[in-house]
Amino acid sequence: MKKILLSVGALLVIGSMVFAYQRYTNAKELDRFTSNEQIKHILTSNRCLDCHSQSPELPFYASFPIAEGIIQEDIQKGYKYIDIESIIEAIDNGNTPSEVDLAKIEQSIINQSMPPAKFTALHWHSSLDEKEREIMLNWIKENRSKIYSNGLSSSTFANEAVQPLIDSLAVNPAKVALGEKLYHDTRLSKDNNLSCATCHSLDSAGVDRLQFSKGIYDQIGGINAPTVFNAALHIAQFWDGRAADLQAQAGGPPFDMLEMGSESWDEIIAKLAKDPELTAEFLSIYPDGYSGNNITDAIAEFEKTLLTPNSRFDLYLKGDATALNQEEIEGYELFKANNCATCHVGQAIGGQSYEYMGIVADYFAEREMKADRDIIKTKDQGHFNATNDTKDLQRFKTPSLRNVALTAPYLHDGTAETLEDATRIMLKYQVGKSLSDEDINKIVLFMNTLNGQYKGSTLK
Ligand code: HEC
Ligand code: HEC
Ligand code: HEC
Repeated sequence: MKKILLSVGALLVIGSMVFAYQRYTNAKELDRFTSNEQIKHILTSNRCLDCHSQSPELPFYASFPIAEGIIQEDIQKGYKYIDIESIIEAIDNGNTPSEVDLAKIEQSIINQSMPPAKFTALHWHSSLDEKEREIMLNWIKENRSKIYSNGLSSSTFANEAVQPLIDSLAVNPAKVALGEKLYHDTRLSKDNNLSCATCHSLDSAGVDRLQFSKGIYDQIGGINAPTVFNAALHIAQFWDGRAADLQAQAGGPPFDMLEMGSESWDEIIAKLAKDPELTAEFLSIYPDGYSGNNITDAIAEFEKTLLTPNSRFDLYLKGDATALNQEEIEGYELFKANNCATCHVGQAIGGQSYEYMGIVADYFAEREMKADRDIIKTKDQGHFNATNDTKDLQRFKTPSLRNVALTAPYLHDGTAETLEDATRIMLKYQVGKSLSDEDINKIVLFMNTLNGQYKGSTLK
């Protein structure tokens, strides 16, 4: 008995010496690397890839009966959250990881949530030490301020994942004026009844406020209409990202049989060409005349002017501490503390990544709405529709939260009627936390401060 105790004791001593030595050499090694190499070293030596890459090399105990359940589940969940292999690839190629990836890693370091505790219990050499945390946080700050910051925040907020909205983008004013007309032109639709503004009215925050839009001949679509305001700032267009930019997007609705139902550009152009005033204006800007390419170019140029800066929240970030009241400020703090600002980031507070819907619980299995029409089933596939890659199934472009208080109902399926509903769904399916009603209310109050201004007046 004594012998056993002694050898256990000796093992413990040796174990902690090995541990200390590894920590020591690790710290020494870190000093030798350049910044990007340091980051790679920290991510790989702490086994982040075990759970955050598409085809992880499973650690040896993954096949142990008890560990297996934990590990498989963690790998699936971990990969749905963040793909660290692609971050390392980006670094290798001399690229900066996305704004979203930086925010996610930052938050996991601040919360000290990674690797999950049950994993570090199994595998003791895999949690970040203080020095590694510091290196990571500094690297994130540097990259954010170098690549992503627009410099509009006051020094207090200069390094936040969320940023104030810029006032404008550079545009060609003549194209904007023409594009605004075309945006409101019902001749783009087969029956001359619908324009872009029918579903994206600028008087109702750029949306139709319906669960599913009503297209030509009163047909009902299968996905909620997002707002056109600030869409210029998104990485791509549509919930599934199937249009690379605004111009590509604008070529979709005119020929969507559930939206505007036209058959060809020729059909639309034949109608527009009968309008001498429009045609003269068109030719003065596009000497080569009407074409799908030119029409969508003008509409896209107009949409670049649909930015909504100067919300109360923007004023707050820019340094006016009185622009928000105490509860709203607490709401913003809760928004950050509960990981919301790891996906809803940047100046659009979203629109920068495709995220799996239902990371911590199965959203689609528990959703009450029936996907009883093919169009809904197709739309539910998310980013897969753009890439045909099964890893993108049920991933959706994170919506921008700008003006979100004005754009109910919410989510791609339009099932969340209020911001409170949407917040509860996010907490349950994307974050894995439950908050008190009081805290949820504060987050909602914060989101109510995101209504910005268009042409000098606050959106309604
Ligand atoms: C054993 C598997 C495992 C390992 C190893 C692991 N993670 Fe995770 N990670 C997860 C899981 C599971 C989640 C989902 C959230 C949860 O359950 O806590 C997650 C979530 C995350 C998130 C999302 C935000 C958050 O904090 O929840 C980030 C960022 C992250 N991990 C980074 C890392 C980094 C960096 C490392 C290496 C230091 C790492 N992970 C190692 C399993 C793992
Ligand atoms: C019948 C209603 C309807 C009409 C008409 C319509 N849209 Fe949309 N719009 C939608 C719906 C629904 C979506 C979402 C579709 C999806 O993601 O698959 C959408 C998506 C968009 C987006 C993407 C925003 C984002 O955040 O991804 C933009 C931009 C947009 N529409 C602009 C336009 C323009 C420009 C026109 C006119 C050429 C137009 N829409 C006509 C309903 C409509
Ligand atoms: C892992 C990434 C992620 C996190 C974390 C996250 N969201 Fe989301 N959020 C999304 C995605 C993706 C959607 C769209 C999902 C869909 O439509 O199926 C969304 C949708 C929303 C919407 C609806 C917006 C609209 O226009 O329809 C609101 C509001 C929202 N999130 C708020 C929050 C809040 C508040 C938190 C924190 C409690 C949060 N989100 C955390 C990714 C995330």
